[in-house]
Amino acid sequence: MNTSRKVILSGMRPTGNLHLGHWVGALSNWIELQKEYKCFFMVADWHALMSEYKNTTFIKKYIFDNVADWLSYGVNPQKSIIFVQSQVLEHLELFMILSALTPLGWLSRCPTFKEQVIQLKEKDVNTYAFLGYPVLQAADIVLYKANSVPVGEDQLPHLELCREIVRRFHFIYKKKIFIEPKALLTKTPRFLGLDGRKMSKSYDNYISLSEDDENLQRKVLSMFTDPARKRKDDPGHPDICNVFSYYSIFKEDLKDEVYDWCVKAKKGCQECKTILLKYIKDFIAPHREMKRQILKKKHYIDDILQEGRKKAKKIASQTLDEVKEILKL
Ligand code: TRP
Ligand code: SF4
Repeated sequence: MNTSRKVILSGMRPTGNLHLGHWVGALSNWIELQKEYKCFFMVADWHALMSEYKNTTFIKKYIFDNVADWLSYGVNPQKSIIFVQSQVLEHLELFMILSALTPLGWLSRCPTFKEQVIQLKEKDVNTYAFLGYPVLQAADIVLYKANSVPVGEDQLPHLELCREIVRRFHFIYKKKIFIEPKALLTKTPRFLGLDGRKMSKSYDNYISLSEDDENLQRKVLSMFTDPARKRKDDPGHPDICNVFSYYSIFKEDLKDEVYDWCVKAKKGCQECKTILLKYIKDFIAPHREMKRQILKKKHYIDDILQEGRKKAKKIASQTLDEVKEILKL
């Protein structure tokens, strides 16, 4: 193996079905990155617990389901290390050590913490663990000395906190063992949910990565379009139409034609959506079939996660040994 490859680590919380937003915003990028980098892809189940602690019964199901989606969309266990956070206990040990040196103010001022406490009212995340969410995330990243972390914009404050924690560690112990990770901002094209809001399971406006044809049809045909097109011969405004932005992703080479039929009112929205539907169907179908095959093989995912756990643990425990050596623990 080429050991000079730079290291990437990223994670997803197993809290629901993965949807096209995850593909556009993260997964498609992961697939590309594994060509060039040594990648660690982690199921962040401790992070899931921090917000879902009142209803934990789904976490295990989504660990398997999400990993099945990753695999069926091209995350390659031969190339990348796929593992579950809670199976590598070093994450918690380093989390503890980093917690000791992270000032409370950094965490309580973290914009994501403040927002989530307000937004996720029914989840009651005004807790001790949730405050430390970015510290665990920092431990995830520095355990593997990741050079870069592909994240969406919402995660930037966590990355910045991670870098600050690394600097503080180096300053206090006068030894530089970690890397300040860079954020690899995913270039997300404009991609919204069916109703024009952010695609999210909590809005129920998403298309899942293994959506069946019947639901796909119902969902795509119900998408919001340009409200100015009341009748078929009203010209449309593709630039503000969500359906048009889906074309940019699923059938880029038809964009000019769609633009033309829209502004010249040559086709109606229903027809436009029906054509789009076909492309989305064709996109999802092979992955959905692959996922079905994967879930049919009984130990397939277990074996991959076991293998990933071993590889991750080897590196994580080396890092933790170094840390303990420095702290004389
Ligand atoms: N906090 C991330 C999210 O909600 C998930 C995550 C946990 C993560 N640990 C990570 C992402 C480490 C990148 C690196 O999306
Ligand atoms: Fe949107 Fe297509 Fe209707 Fe134009 S024709 S407004 S792109 S759905």
